Amino acid sequence: MNQNNATEIQKTWWKESVIYQIYPRSFCDSNGDGIGDIQGIISKLDHLQELGVNIVWLSPIYASPNDDNGYDISDYYGIMQEFGTIEDFDQMLAEMKKRNLKLMMDLVVNHSSDEHQWFQESRKSKDNPYRDFYFWRKGENGNSPSNWRSFFSGSAWQYDPTTEEYYLHLFTKKQPDLNWENEKLRQEIYKMMRFWLDKGISGFRMDVIPFISKHLDFPPAYLDNFDKTMKEIYANGPRIHEFLQEMNREVLSKYDITTVGEGAGISVHQGIEYVSSDKKELHTIFHFDHMGLDRNPKNHMDGIGTYKLSAFKKIFTDWHQALGSKGWNSLFLSNHDFPRMVSRFGNDQEYRIESAKSLATVLFTLRGTPYIYQGDEIGMVNYPFQNIEDFRDVQVLNAYKEALEEQQDMEKFLDSQRRFTRDHARTPMQWDESENAGFTGGKAWIGIHPNYLEVNVKKSRQDRDSVMNYYKKLINLRKQNLTLVYGDYEIFYEDSEQIYCYLRSMNEDKLLIINNISSHTADFELPKHLQESGKELLLSNYEVSVAQSIKTLVLRPYEVRIYRLQ
Ligand code: GLC
Ligand code: CA
Repeated sequence: MNQNNATEIQKTWWKESVIYQIYPRSFCDSNGDGIGDIQGIISKLDHLQELGVNIVWLSPIYASPNDDNGYDISDYYGIMQEFGTIEDFDQMLAEMKKRNLKLMMDLVVNHSSDEHQWFQESRKSKDNPYRDFYFWRKGENGNSPSNWRSFFSGSAWQYDPTTEEYYLHLFTKKQPDLNWENEKLRQEIYKMMRFWLDKGISGFRMDVIPFISKHLDFPPAYLDNFDKTMKEIYANGPRIHEFLQEMNREVLSKYDITTVGEGAGISVHQGIEYVSSDKKELHTIFHFDHMGLDRNPKNHMDGIGTYKLSAFKKIFTDWHQALGSKGWNSLFLSNHDFPRMVSRFGNDQEYRIESAKSLATVLFTLRGTPYIYQGDEIGMVNYPFQNIEDFRDVQVLNAYKEALEEQQDMEKFLDSQRRFTRDHARTPMQWDESENAGFTGGKAWIGIHPNYLEVNVKKSRQDRDSVMNYYKKLINLRKQNLTLVYGDYEIFYEDSEQIYCYLRSMNEDKLLIINNISSHTADFELPKHLQESGKELLLSNYEVSVAQSIKTLVLRPYEVRIYRLQ
């Protein structure tokens, strides 16, 4: 059993921070080409400061041919042309510093772009010095070297006629996997990390980091179960901890920074091996257990679209227990790879505002570092995608081609994309009610949600009861009450499919969170042993009469309250 007591946790700035994720392509466009950019980000830093966030995580801004929107890097030292220049970057960092904002960069080193110079060299000949920077294998009797499948459809092996061998790509064929077995490659990556750290950034979010160590015999994948394949075959390879410890020793430990690994394929039992303070690897990971709740594990592009609150709560409870006082969690309900959190876990129709607040409360009142994904602070919702022309994501476009070839039911295919596409998160940030939602003076690269007249930052700022003002209050509450950061966690009514209720406590301080995460009223009874204490209401998302006893309550849809018990 892990020790789990608040008083044993080492206190530090990155545990007390709130992180905001920017997807640069969709944040703000400064020059009217329809694509967000660095000057656009600079122009909106005041918004982040006003919210009260401490760290900004930028999805990749490095030079890239954009096969996967920047997650395919052709030069790790350069800036994507569409986003600006290295001078823009330096200016952005300086402007962030002025506002006490730290910068976390995306580190995409499981793969590079096929247009990276390393790969260009590597594919030239079998004895090229860069050959071994990637995984090249001969075919097996005219077939690819193993049955591994790419996340983005088709085989994970691409035949290359120049040397008549195949290279591995877990993502698109323009994202060849880097071979971490190669010492020189690892040193190149560490050098590049130091370059950005020496510029003064404060950390990295590490893309699909559990995949960097491969099983070199490329064992057969479970073709009927993608989830199992990811966990057992692609992630957590034999040298993963050795590589991360080396990276930590050689680079990370030399700076006062923070790290979060994208933890695809890491189970609740494995998490602590990556984030335990004893192990000196990463500070935190994003686990994906709750992101699978509405999905079909066999096929991650398909799903049921609903989830059970009891299962949702169990995941947070289990991770809290598993990481104990030596590990640390990251808390997120959406990012650039998933539909909008309100549409997915809340109700984006009648209770858009209430459910946005109820879900945000989960993020800011559990133990861990909370992440806000751009637009969630104003309650942005899923986009009404219709035809294939509306989508931009390479994942959808590749799957579409494959579905056509396989003569699948295309209406069914599109229906599942309409619900699950990553593009939901990538429609432009809605700043105001002007044309194009204030995102661009030109034509946006992807559709702008038609609700922008109603849902935008400007309006949210003016409305006392807006989602954004509630986020501000939550962030502030968390800053004022370290019990919300470090406190112990005790859950009540685990089996309820409506109510998420828990106590956070540290020393004598006790905060009770009562959250009806459902579209119906819910009967609530205060746990007996808490009935005697005095109660001070700290935050709520409905009008509440302070004099009211809370021994029993009828909670309104998505009603949430936070009390201090005395
Ligand atoms: C991660 C990123 C995703 C990207 C993939 C390949 O999952 O978050 O956007 O497509 O890795 O780099
Ligand atoms: Ca632009």
